[in-house]
Amino acid sequence: MRTETGFDVATATRCDRTAAWAALAGHYEAHGRDFDLREAFGRDPRRFESMSFDAPEVFADLSKNLVDAATLRFLADLARECGVEAQRDAMFAGVAINNTERRAVLHTALRAPRGSAPFGDDVHAVLDAMLAFAEAVRARANGASTSAVATPTVRLRHVVNIGIGGSDLGPQMAVRALAGFAHPGLTFHFVANVDGADLASVLAGIAPAETLFVVASKTFTTQETMTNAATARAWFLAQGGTRIEEHFVAATSNVEAAARFGITRTFGFWDWVGGRYSLWSAIGLPIAIAIGAERFRDLLAGAHAMDGHFAQAPVERNLPMLLGLVDVWYRNFHGFTSRCIAPYAQALQRLPAYLQQLEMESNGKRVDRSGAPLPFATSPVVWGEPGTNAQHAYFQMLHQGSDVVPVEFILLAQSSAVAGAISPEATLRQQRMLLANGLAQSQALMQGRASTSEPHRDFPGNRPSTTLLLDRLTPRSLGALLALYEHRVFTSGAVWGIDSFDQWGVELGKTLGAKLLPLLETGPVIALPADLDASTAGLLRRLGA
Ligand code: F6P
Repeated sequence: MRTETGFDVATATRCDRTAAWAALAGHYEAHGRDFDLREAFGRDPRRFESMSFDAPEVFADLSKNLVDAATLRFLADLARECGVEAQRDAMFAGVAINNTERRAVLHTALRAPRGSAPFGDDVHAVLDAMLAFAEAVRARANGASTSAVATPTVRLRHVVNIGIGGSDLGPQMAVRALAGFAHPGLTFHFVANVDGADLASVLAGIAPAETLFVVASKTFTTQETMTNAATARAWFLAQGGTRIEEHFVAATSNVEAAARFGITRTFGFWDWVGGRYSLWSAIGLPIAIAIGAERFRDLLAGAHAMDGHFAQAPVERNLPMLLGLVDVWYRNFHGFTSRCIAPYAQALQRLPAYLQQLEMESNGKRVDRSGAPLPFATSPVVWGEPGTNAQHAYFQMLHQGSDVVPVEFILLAQSSAVAGAISPEATLRQQRMLLANGLAQSQALMQGRASTSEPHRDFPGNRPSTTLLLDRLTPRSLGALLALYEHRVFTSGAVWGIDSFDQWGVELGKTLGAKLLPLLETGPVIALPADLDASTAGLLRRLGA
């Protein structure tokens, strides 16, 4: 793949063979392994100022990380030697950087203003249609009579999104995050698991005439989604539902398959939108219904502002690049195996799960773009839960466990509590408590507390963390935050030289599952295949096969 600037990733030097990598290795031995945050703050009274960064909607404090000015300089050199900027430019220009699937990667085009990015006419035609539909749904939730959506005489109360992976996690995370902006008369449900318990628990509380189902699947072939959608349609008819065409809509790049399913209203998107990068596309329909057209455009605008920062800021002040480069430093030099996401905001409860797919499905690869094995580690395990809950669960391990886990604190200056539910005084009091807890945890991780007489009370400290600070959780700031993470994942993937946009690792389990299903369906009447491994055969017999 040759980029517009002439940078050719096929002939690019592998990251661990660059001069910058050697410099980082030497720097790690000399100053990295024994780096002490407390001493670093003692040496440099301006450490906070020089290691905190402003990007659109997000302020980032990197000063509690195990880096000094030289580390950041060598990491910036690494980005340049690995052609991160050239690869970034190629992505924005629509070069087929997803080379194993021969596809462009253009989720940035989904949030670009009309006429400023590839496929603008197609993108804005679908966006306009989808947002007009979202407004019609919201009107039906107000009781307005519009024949465009659902049974015209009944007020719409429920939206059920049926999708999995990127067709679930993004919309679910964003609808929950923006609950304070959502239509008060609508309840949003997200069904993903093929476990019938997931769908059944939702259907038990809704009525067909009051419900809009959104079948969300890029491929429209995913087993879980197709099965749940078929079960939901059967339930709808069995419960006396009529006019399927008004109660089921689809978001997919496979418009023909949606039509075969019996869905006539479909919002399409394109193969250059990866599933885990798709909430900006028609997959965002539940978000648009929840917050309305104007605010959905704000979400896109926030992401676009971060795109501009990523595209233009020099490496040294480019926040997504810096975060991605520090990730490389931790993974490949310190050998840290995971990163914990701690949003101090209940509204961001699904963010860790969303980021888990974004990062681990993108960068969980052990070969480079050409298929050559890589001798260094790639994606860390990404995990987490909102604070303060997490403090009362696994923060023990973060403070005193045997592994060092970099933690990412996401703080909101203002509360995201839905207005009016509790008093303004209670909201303010609890927000201050929340912030004090978040700040205290990063402080405790860094400072530690020595106790030689009582080892179980000893906190080693020197444990790294990043704090991302947003003024308020709004559609715009959420858009910027998510784009920040997308580009950070891009940066580490570009350094490692992997294809961050394919996901072949999910295929084998799907194929084997398709072979095992008939054995469970037919039961003991057919013999289990002779070449079946003894463990799977034994478990199947226990299950009655
Ligand atoms: O199996 C993994 C995956 O392909 C994800 O990449 C994707 O987000 C998810 O399944 C759902 O896929 P689809 O939107 O095509 O149903």
